[in-house]
Amino acid sequence: VVIAIDGPAGAGKSSIARALALELGFTYLDSGAMYRAVALDAREREADPAAVAAQLRITLDGERVLLDGREVSAAIRSPEISQAASRVAADPRVRAAMVALQRRMLATGDWVAEGRDIGTVVAPEAELKVFLTASPAERARRRAADLGADPGTVLAEQTIRDQRDLTRAHSPLQAAPDSVVLDTTELGFEEVVRRVAELARERLRGRSGAT
Ligand code: C5P
Repeated sequence: VVIAIDGPAGAGKSSIARALALELGFTYLDSGAMYRAVALDAREREADPAAVAAQLRITLDGERVLLDGREVSAAIRSPEISQAASRVAADPRVRAAMVALQRRMLATGDWVAEGRDIGTVVAPEAELKVFLTASPAERARRRAADLGADPGTVLAEQTIRDQRDLTRAHSPLQAAPDSVVLDTTELGFEEVVRRVAELARERLRGRSGAT
């Protein structure tokens, strides 16, 4: 079973997806961490991101992200790597490698997978697709609070990244036609988790009833 959570930066995908996975007993897949790891590795080795992506040795272990066995959980979250990740993610060769890897992971077990193209490209057969959004100002406010950063700076960086994710030629950020769009601007965290968990339970019930 796959539950896909897509949406722009700062919409609350990671915390919602994590909470949902915990509640349902599913495994959480942070696909953004994979693009971030490619960006970090390519930068450190001064290598072609496509070559790095083709042989990425990444381990996603709960909260921890390991690159070749080395913990990079904090390093991949810097503002520089956020921007670099959205640049390497526009490269179709990088995307092909990551999508293949993600599909292999999702092929067995039960997952809550989070990103930009999970419902549209990686797992179009997902049992439930949620597209989480919030106003740009609210998304920047939340991310700034998380990072302890200045909201104005976060908003400026977020706008550049949103623009790049929305306009790239390959798998631009968009809601799958059969997704449930949830605008969380006015909703608290618990409320969003409650609604998404309810949707997931409905779909899972429908599924077991149908077989
Ligand atoms: O979700 P997160 O902010 O960690 O993702 C970092 C970058 O990776 C995004 O700005 C986006 O360009 C890219 N990404 C993507 N497809 C995904 C997940 C992330 O293109 N499924």
